[in-house]
Amino acid sequence: MSALLEIEGLRVTIGSTAAVRGASLVVNKGETHCLVGESGCGKSITALSVMGLLPRGSRRETTALRFAGQEIGRFNETEMSRLRGDRMAMIFQEPMTSLNPAYTVGSQMTEVLRRHRGATRAQAVDRAAELLARVGITAPGLRLGQFPHQLSGGLRQRVMIAMALMCDPELLIADEPTTALDVTVQAQILRLLATLQKDLGLGILLITHDLGIVARVADRVSVMYAGEVVESAPTAALFAAPEHPYTRGLLTCVPVPGKVRRDEPLGSIPGVVPRIQPGFTGCGFRDRCAQATPACAGAIPHQQAGADHETLCVLAPGWKAAA
Ligand SMILES: Nc1ncnc2c1ncn2[C@@H]1O[C@H](COP(=O)(O)OP(=O)(O)OP(=O)(O)O)[C@@H](O)[C@H]1O
Ligand SMILES: [Mg+2]
Repeated sequence: MSALLEIEGLRVTIGSTAAVRGASLVVNKGETHCLVGESGCGKSITALSVMGLLPRGSRRETTALRFAGQEIGRFNETEMSRLRGDRMAMIFQEPMTSLNPAYTVGSQMTEVLRRHRGATRAQAVDRAAELLARVGITAPGLRLGQFPHQLSGGLRQRVMIAMALMCDPELLIADEPTTALDVTVQAQILRLLATLQKDLGLGILLITHDLGIVARVADRVSVMYAGEVVESAPTAALFAAPEHPYTRGLLTCVPVPGKVRRDEPLGSIPGVVPRIQPGFTGCGFRDRCAQATPACAGAIPHQQAGADHETLCVLAPGWKAAA
């Protein structure tokens, strides 16, 4: 499998918050990589870093940031805006983040293709109608003439997905795309994403709080805590043999052990995610961790816990078996 997106040693500081602290992850072509973790642990900031859409006042450093083999970490805003919406696209929890209330669905969708591909208006309208149909919207012609506020939440989310697909991207980043939707619509949107991925060979980085979603759609999972990726593994391995105490905490907090139900949020571990200041060292989880030792205040090693399974912890891989 070949790498589509490679993030290595990502660090983001926003004011006096170390939002991301040396995170690395790889999304392969045609793969769904889920990024999970509690609120505030740096998932959205990681996604926005890739898109070049960080909040004002953020400082980003990377060892490497490659898209389709090309280093994009030093791209300027013009170069990034050429990639965004074209070869990589992002969808958000709240569709109105990407939809402009003042323009019709049609004019927003066609604008993307005209800007990136120099398509004619007629070509762009055809493409927009085709994609609306593809994401399950009936009467696409009618919808193209409507404004976002005339659509339900589920329809808006479909429009946003269709808009993200206008230029046939290789990478789709979806930040909690279904959290704001009711359960039935959530399931429809997830099925849609899975179908699109299969048909179009999309690489997807999916941010979610819902371990049920992870179990169903992810090929690979990265668990984030306090700005670091603390564990990363193929989905089956992560659920069968979680290594990091934080991952184990998340999984054991799910009511039916080993069986994650749909719509189950991340479990709640006592304590809260700390706000990490720049210069902090050691494991960010140590204050909440039952296994913590003085070593956790020092440098934390990346350890191999199995094939393609990494954990960031001082505990020896397999520690739970001995406990
Ligand atoms: N615009 C901003 N200004 C200042 N700090 C920010 C900003 N956005 C995020 N942060 C901080 O960066 C850290 C990571 O936030 P981020 O939004 O990436 O978390 P998250 O994992 O996406 O959480 P959630 O699950 O709630 O969406 C947090 O400490 C947050 O307070
Ligand atoms: Mg977020």
